[in-house]
Amino acid sequence: MSKVLVTGGSGFLGSRVVEELKSCGSFEAVHTFRSSEYDLRQLDAVKQLFQDKPADTLVHLAAVVGGIGANMQRPGEFFYDNLVMGVHLVEQARLFGVKKCVVIGTICSYPKFTPVPFKEDEIWNGYPEETNAPYGLAKKMLMVQLDAYRRQYNFNGIRLLMVNLYGPGDNFDLNSSHVIPAMLRKFHEAKEAGQDVVTLWGDGSPSREFLYVDDAARAIRLATQRYNKPAPVNVGSGMEITMRQLANQIKRVVAFEGEIVWDTSKPNGQPRRCLDVSRAREEFGFSANMTFPMGLQLTYDWFKQNYAAIEAREKLTQGVAART
Ligand SMILES: NC(=O)c1ccc[n+]([C@@H]2O[C@H](COP(=O)([O-])OP(=O)(O)OC[C@H]3O[C@@H](n4cnc5c(N)ncnc54)[C@H](OP(=O)(O)O)[C@@H]3O)[C@@H](O)[C@H]2O)c1
Repeated sequence: MSKVLVTGGSGFLGSRVVEELKSCGSFEAVHTFRSSEYDLRQLDAVKQLFQDKPADTLVHLAAVVGGIGANMQRPGEFFYDNLVMGVHLVEQARLFGVKKCVVIGTICSYPKFTPVPFKEDEIWNGYPEETNAPYGLAKKMLMVQLDAYRRQYNFNGIRLLMVNLYGPGDNFDLNSSHVIPAMLRKFHEAKEAGQDVVTLWGDGSPSREFLYVDDAARAIRLATQRYNKPAPVNVGSGMEITMRQLANQIKRVVAFEGEIVWDTSKPNGQPRRCLDVSRAREEFGFSANMTFPMGLQLTYDWFKQNYAAIEAREKLTQGVAART
């Protein structure tokens, strides 16, 4: 039994991780907090956090994340915030006597032309795809930190390299969303408005892998309970789908009857993405349960049910931004 502190516990993945850790019954307490209470970019706030919420285990999910567009618009923020939050947290976790630290990394840390399926041993063999390199490299530096701390301080930090996620509760704001919620929203709004065409970024050739958010939360819980080795572990579903196939599948789910146009003036991002997921299976018994068609349908159902609330929240945020 241990006390767990989860950063980013209000987020898309973090809220599921908190739920999963609480419901498994293996932990004495599971704490989380909002960035308005403790801004992890501030060292004093991180120290205060560990004083206020002592923990044996830290699960670090807090991050600034988004799709290609957000990564291109705010590369400085994606680099600085993600790097500094992680560096402060891991250092203070060590100083406050945390016994185990689980850091959630990203597939964006892999080199641009990693051979498919990506094996963990390839992680250092090249520079990431340029549009998401600041984010991917900031997160990759935390791998260096954990490795260094294990060697010098015998600090038990583990690293999970997470593939692109999707599911109910995802971010559907087109200014910052990842590809699945962005496509679902574009097709849905085009259908509702009676439009004939949906325009998507790139040429449709890149491939991606997706993991349902509840599977990702279960993987994090299993690794927290069972895995203590220094080697990073891929967490994914092992599927690979091209953007063109994905667009056609989403078009069917939404029942949009118009055409898809590819805007080739926009970047494709990384050419291919698909993880070798054998280490997670062998080391802590994780494999994905959700089928992709079912996961997409559940995500779309959630989006439709929450469309009015999503729009209302966006209007409120735009209003606040305009006033400040
Ligand atoms: N989504 C994906 O497809 C994906 C793929 C691979 C890896 N990951 C990783 O999974 C993790 C969670 O991603 P997500 O999609 O769930 O993100 P998210 O929904 O955007 O949630 C981000 C979380 O980080 C917190 N946060 C941001 N800035 C903070 C700050 N300065 N101080 C304290 N907390 C801060 C937010 O807290 P507030 O809400 O209180 O501001 C929120 O809880 C991240 O580490 C991400 O790199 C995600």
